[in-house]
Amino acid sequence: MKVLIFETEEEAKRNAASRLLRQVQLSPSSVLGLATGGTMEAVYAHLIQMSLDQSVSWSGVATFNLDEYWGVPADSPASYRTYMNAHLFDHIDIVRSATHVPASDGRDPRDAAQLYEDAISAAGGIDLQLLGIGKNGHIGFNEPTSSLSSTTRIKTLTDDTRRANRRYFDRLEDVPKYALTVGIGTILASKECLIVGTGQDKAAAVKAMIEGPVSAVCPASALQMHRNVTVVIDEQAARDLELIDYYQHVHPAGQEADLFDV
Ligand code: PGA
Repeated sequence: MKVLIFETEEEAKRNAASRLLRQVQLSPSSVLGLATGGTMEAVYAHLIQMSLDQSVSWSGVATFNLDEYWGVPADSPASYRTYMNAHLFDHIDIVRSATHVPASDGRDPRDAAQLYEDAISAAGGIDLQLLGIGKNGHIGFNEPTSSLSSTTRIKTLTDDTRRANRRYFDRLEDVPKYALTVGIGTILASKECLIVGTGQDKAAAVKAMIEGPVSAVCPASALQMHRNVTVVIDEQAARDLELIDYYQHVHPAGQEADLFDV
């Protein structure tokens, strides 16, 4: 894992955005795996601004989001489709039919899951998978004890996750109990992963992800098995790391050396 620690939350989110932008610049037909959540709102805002400033076209890019609430219609204000349109897709020249979010309608969830896996495969797999990290170590909606080789399926959300996402709904009772999420195995099959976490609320999960044992109790720890992962965090999220001095020695202030980019 490449662990990059930035002094501020703002710098970390800007760095994540510049990595996504670089991927699109270097490979205009990239297949991106995308994430939602509070962290990504600022990442996408930077990405939109950078795309405009540098005239980067998204017309050849395809995207696959990690998850969607089950039973929430795509056009609902609380759906992740609505989130993605509002925070990214409406502001760049991406072809809307090339943007994918798992289906949330009433069809058999096993069929919806298989269709999503098939669509990712048909696109050639994910080139760069963007991830947030939950306070409980989830990635996508793969809650603790998810199979580390899981593929897309329905997951029951934990009460903690439902409370964390309460802000997108009128009442806690309205937060869905289930979501369709790509699996940990699906995430591990991507060519590269970029995981972003900021703030002291994430410190325990970040420590478990980077320095804990590989365990289904912390789904993000499965990323230790992936050969190309960049972790972008701020000092608050990094504060529990035992080897923080080492990470900061290798990448001072989150910077990467030209030759020894390891
Ligand atoms: P957050 O969510 O960015 O809103 O903290 C991250 C996640 O749960 O994956």
